[in-house]
Amino acid sequence: MKEKLQQIKQAALAELQAPDCDTEAVRVKYLGKKGELTAVLRGMGALSPEERPVVGQMANDVRAEIEAALATVVAAAKEKALNDRLAREKLDVTMPGKCERVGHQHPLTRAQREMEEIFIGMGFEIAEGPEVEYDYYNFQALNIPENHPARDTQDTFYITDKILLRSQTSPVQVRVMEKQSPPIRVISPGRVYRSDALDATHSPLFHQMEGLVVDKGITMSDLKGTLETFARKMFGDKTEIRFRPHHFPFTEPSAEVDVSCFVCGGKGCRVCKGEGWIEILGAGMVHPFVLSNCGIDPEVYSGFAFGMGLERVTMTRYGIDDIRLFYENDERFLKQF
Ligand code: PHE
Repeated sequence: MKEKLQQIKQAALAELQAPDCDTEAVRVKYLGKKGELTAVLRGMGALSPEERPVVGQMANDVRAEIEAALATVVAAAKEKALNDRLAREKLDVTMPGKCERVGHQHPLTRAQREMEEIFIGMGFEIAEGPEVEYDYYNFQALNIPENHPARDTQDTFYITDKILLRSQTSPVQVRVMEKQSPPIRVISPGRVYRSDALDATHSPLFHQMEGLVVDKGITMSDLKGTLETFARKMFGDKTEIRFRPHHFPFTEPSAEVDVSCFVCGGKGCRVCKGEGWIEILGAGMVHPFVLSNCGIDPEVYSGFAFGMGLERVTMTRYGIDDIRLFYENDERFLKQF
């Protein structure tokens, strides 16, 4: 019996040495319920009482040795499998990546958002109006009757006699005042149209941003303070603003507003064409007729309005010298922003 145990041990250990040994099969064959070692133990009844413990002890040792060898082989196999997998799934972090091309906002959209943020910070809300507009809102309600010379500079595209593509964002002033009672504090960005030929500074489609404030006791100094705050946030802390008398039919008094050149600080350079100042907008106190047209009593309320060209502000800000670049979708241009 002792020899039989030794044989089992030798055979089991030898099988476990084989390069691709099936460890589970070895376990069943030698240690399983119907395995060879179990068979030997069953035969122990035939032994003498003196021999039984000796052979029992030996059988236990043999089982322990086989189990230990099995565990070693299983562990080695697991480690090898893991190493193989790691080798297979190795990541080469030095390999050149696949570049995803991510787009970004158009420079005009960026400038618009930036301007909106500044005015929202001063308590303004954003109002929108239609691009296809009635003659009434675009002109008449703004104190520009038929045959008024101001219509010449804002010639636009007509859909019918009474319906046109708006030539300015000012009609949104009227739409807001008709619906809302003061206090009113809105800005209104959007597309406008004029029948201008396309050149470096003109486009039949461009963008404006309108501003309107109406309340009791609003004065020209509120307009100046608001525009100065805007200009400093948009063009830098040291920016100065300058009002030049002007005429708009829907504001009285009216002004054109310049900002000191943010490149040269006012000395005169290429960007401001030697002027030291750059014109950015038109503004004024809302004309009493316009307030009345919208059902607001000019004896009680007053207000200011301003309107600026987004292209102009953006061109000034980024030193862009041709308005056509905004609409051509040339990536060599757009990529720079
Ligand atoms: N709508 C005027 C323009 O397009 C600008 C403006 C707006 C002037 C508001 C005064 C007040 O020229």
